[in-house]
Amino acid sequence: MSEKTILVTGGSGFIGSNLVRMLRQDEAFRVINLDKLTYAANPETLADLKNDDGYIFVQGDIGNRELVRWIFKQYHPVGVLNLAAESHVDRSIESPEDFVQTNIVAAYRLLDEALFYWRTLPDVEKKEFRFLHVSTDEVFGALGDDGFFTEETRYSPNSPYSASKAASDHFVRAYQHTYGLPTLITNCSNNYGPYQFPEKLIPMMIFNALRGELLPVYGDGSNVRDWIYVEDHCRAIMSVFEKGQVGETYVIGANSEQKNIDLVHTICNIMNELLPLDKNPGLNAKKINNYEDLIHFVTDRPGHDQRYAIDAKKMHNELGWEPEMSLEEGLRQTVRWYIENLDWVNQASGGKFDDWVNKNYAWRGAY
Ligand code: NAD
Ligand code: TYD
Repeated sequence: MSEKTILVTGGSGFIGSNLVRMLRQDEAFRVINLDKLTYAANPETLADLKNDDGYIFVQGDIGNRELVRWIFKQYHPVGVLNLAAESHVDRSIESPEDFVQTNIVAAYRLLDEALFYWRTLPDVEKKEFRFLHVSTDEVFGALGDDGFFTEETRYSPNSPYSASKAASDHFVRAYQHTYGLPTLITNCSNNYGPYQFPEKLIPMMIFNALRGELLPVYGDGSNVRDWIYVEDHCRAIMSVFEKGQVGETYVIGANSEQKNIDLVHTICNIMNELLPLDKNPGLNAKKINNYEDLIHFVTDRPGHDQRYAIDAKKMHNELGWEPEMSLEEGLRQTVRWYIENLDWVNQASGGKFDDWVNKNYAWRGAY
């Protein structure tokens, strides 16, 4: 096989699966996907690749040194795209331990094994190798009404999730500075699109609206997030992998800020258009006049960051990357995807979902 091999971790999750599919559609790389298959992963997500010789799935933990060492030796990747993580803020508030274990300890072990492997490479391959760590803008903390996160923004993580991601970012940076491992870091804003586990805001609102369940909006709904369509993020990751400067960080966003409450109203409007109430079998004769009747304000998330917003000038100026999807069109496509893929959502959420979502986090209280 002449294709170069790349190791993607967390490739069965939301962003990872979109990335793996993109890489295989372009036949850009042979892809090894190392994923533990936690609650957030669904093996069905990449079922379309099961006959693809250029896609290899390995179930396992990025913190399993022996396994990771074996993968490097066996498949000889030209780089790593590290997406494996515990990724949900609400869970991190409820139970930070998994976040420490995966996002800090296991991520450190993966990094250390990458260094071990990199040191065995001949000089040309050493030069070509990249370890790209996919991180979040949440490491920068919260913004007020004004301003944007840039690569210069001071780290100020507020949740156990963002604290754990910040810790791994620091290790990645330190491994470049201390040992010369060619690393890159991306800090992206909130993603949305197909195959997102329905505990995050957008898929949760669509999934609940489909079933006539309440749409829980935290606090007064005034918190702002800067949304990016997942495929735009995936293209950005590959731009950084292929053209980014070693040791640098890149913030990624699509300049699409929205207050949560406005976003939820938009989703309801799209639902009214694409699946009018009288055509929605999931409502089971529940009496509502409009999807918006389901909106329900609930207790705010503790430590809830008020606003995130990204200034992605460096991505534009240095790498020529631009987002392609508008928020309006991306939301429409996403709502349509969830309507048409309810089986995936039910399967993804089966059993493990009800333990958490809709059963109320301790801090949120009943509603
Ligand atoms: P996700 O929760 O949907 O997927 C995470 C994947 O990692 C799952 O498939 C899970 O099984 C796997 N995983 C978890 N622990 C593992 C371990 N120890 N070993 C191997 N695999 C493991 O998350 P996502 O939304 O796709 O996010 C992917 C990455 O992007 C994360 O690092 C996250 O911090 C980052 N990120 C996410 C967003 C977002 O809006 N979703 C924004 C910016 C950055
Ligand atoms: P989320 O999708 O969890 O992403 P993050 O916390 O990483 O930004 O939440 C996005 C925003 O939506 C955040 O301000 C919290 C809010 N939110 C709700 O209002 N209701 C919900 O049920 C969820 C999951 C989130």
